[in-house]
Amino acid sequence: MASLNLISVFIFLLAAMTWAAQAQTSDPVTWAKRVETRTEVISTLQFYFHDRLSGQNPSAIRIAQSSKTNNSATLFGSLMMVDDQLTVGPDPSSKVVGWARGMYGSAGQTDLGLIMVLTYGFTDGIYDGSSFSLLSINPAMNPVREMAIVGGTGLFRLARGYAIARTYSADATTGDAIVGYNVTIATYV
Ligand SMILES: *[C@@H]1O[C@H](CO)[C@@H](O)[C@H](O)[C@H]1NC(C)=O
Ligand SMILES: *[C@@H]1O[C@H](CO)[C@@H](O)[C@H](O)[C@H]1NC(C)=O
Repeated sequence: MASLNLISVFIFLLAAMTWAAQAQTSDPVTWAKRVETRTEVISTLQFYFHDRLSGQNPSAIRIAQSSKTNNSATLFGSLMMVDDQLTVGPDPSSKVVGWARGMYGSAGQTDLGLIMVLTYGFTDGIYDGSSFSLLSINPAMNPVREMAIVGGTGLFRLARGYAIARTYSADATTGDAIVGYNVTIATYV
């Protein structure tokens, strides 16, 4: 008798769980919906980033720093605002395909780690008007580093991906740098 009761309790629980699962999927709300899709687009981009701190018209300027920044080997606490050009080749006079706008700041106390908060916007061909946003630590002294892409607009709506950056040239005196980027982005059709 006891075991029969247990079995009916079990059957009742199973039925309740099934009902609950059905109720979840067949209970639409007016304000949201879910659509399953697996149609993915992978975009690969290759360009060069020109960060110019020197000269009359720098593309990166220091906008803030802490009182301790000048005593820090990594300039910890300094913050730069940038509007850097993106070109097809490492030569600054090669074709401009977009810009990188935003900020980077020194976020590492013991080694150089720049916190990159930048939107990369494009002005060429079908990519004109599209952008992706990058948010990552950039260990800029490493020859190659990987950074996360967390979103985008236009052709890069719902972007997720990563950028591989490799310093092409850097001037230790001025801080000017040219950096090659290989970017992989996944979006949906
Ligand atoms: C830190 O150094 C910069 C560049 O040499 C200088 O412009 C700035 O005044 C210094 N800041 C402080 C707080 O000493
Ligand atoms: C990007 O990829 C190309 C071709 O695979 C390679 O030659 C180049 O070194 C890469 N650049 C970076 C910045 O990784």
